[in-house]
Amino acid sequence: MSDSSKDEQTSTCQDGTLDFWAQKWQQNKIGFHRTVVSHLFEKYMIPKLTATKEQLCVLFTLCGKTLDMVAVLEAGHRVIGIEGCQSGVEAFFQENNIKYEIEKDETNKCQTYKGIECPLTIYVTDFFTFNKSIPPIDYIWDRGGLVAINPSTREQYRDCLIRMMAPERTQLFVVAINYTDLTYTGPPFVVNDDNIQTLFGSTCSCELVEAHDETEEYNSRAVGHRIDFIEERLHLIVQKQT
Ligand SMILES: C[S@@+](CC[C@H](N)C(=O)[O-])C[C@H]1O[C@@H](n2cnc3c(N)ncnc32)[C@H](O)[C@@H]1O
Repeated sequence: MSDSSKDEQTSTCQDGTLDFWAQKWQQNKIGFHRTVVSHLFEKYMIPKLTATKEQLCVLFTLCGKTLDMVAVLEAGHRVIGIEGCQSGVEAFFQENNIKYEIEKDETNKCQTYKGIECPLTIYVTDFFTFNKSIPPIDYIWDRGGLVAINPSTREQYRDCLIRMMAPERTQLFVVAINYTDLTYTGPPFVVNDDNIQTLFGSTCSCELVEAHDETEEYNSRAVGHRIDFIEERLHLIVQKQT
């Protein structure tokens, strides 16, 4: 993710809040967005999706307009996304030529964007207040989610994630970010292995799947701010059986 130039940090909104991100979308400062399916998704999720004929359901938290969702649809599976910024969601449908309809729910400040010809639902709402009932989820893919929110809201975010997990079914993949450059404060915010363990360890087992050096990729997309070292650390988190 590379929403990283110093000028981008002169935001009036508190870093990592939904208002902060809405401003990024409005200014088209979406360096986090990738124009291809992400490397870790390709490597770890695609084989799972192509290995079964059963229709799986993948939830993308804070989904933006990630093309990883398209890869799931192409593999014949179901996608649910949650995203707070409407323009990002509309861009997703338009850029991928997916026909959609919208259901509004003013009471819950949630708009539901549904693919007309494909099993895709994206809820446009604040993740922290999301309260729709959703089908049992096989996988949650959280890239640019936990690392994007203000660190003070991590426990709340974790609790929302856990509520969305079906016991003995859901596998939660979190793409965490680590870097050592103390002059850079994020977002993306550092989420190190200890943070993962502290957040999830009491109720879930956490396995580090891969640490992937992102420095070159990050610096190629960053505007005005280069970083010495940054890595993505993919964790697989499943609820412990009680
Ligand atoms: C760093 S981007 C990552 C987007 C996507 N996951 C990807 O990999 O490209 C973070 C996204 O989270 C969304 N977001 C931030 N806070 C949110 C909140 N409280 N509720 C819903 N979406 C939120 C932002 O609008 C933004 O699209």
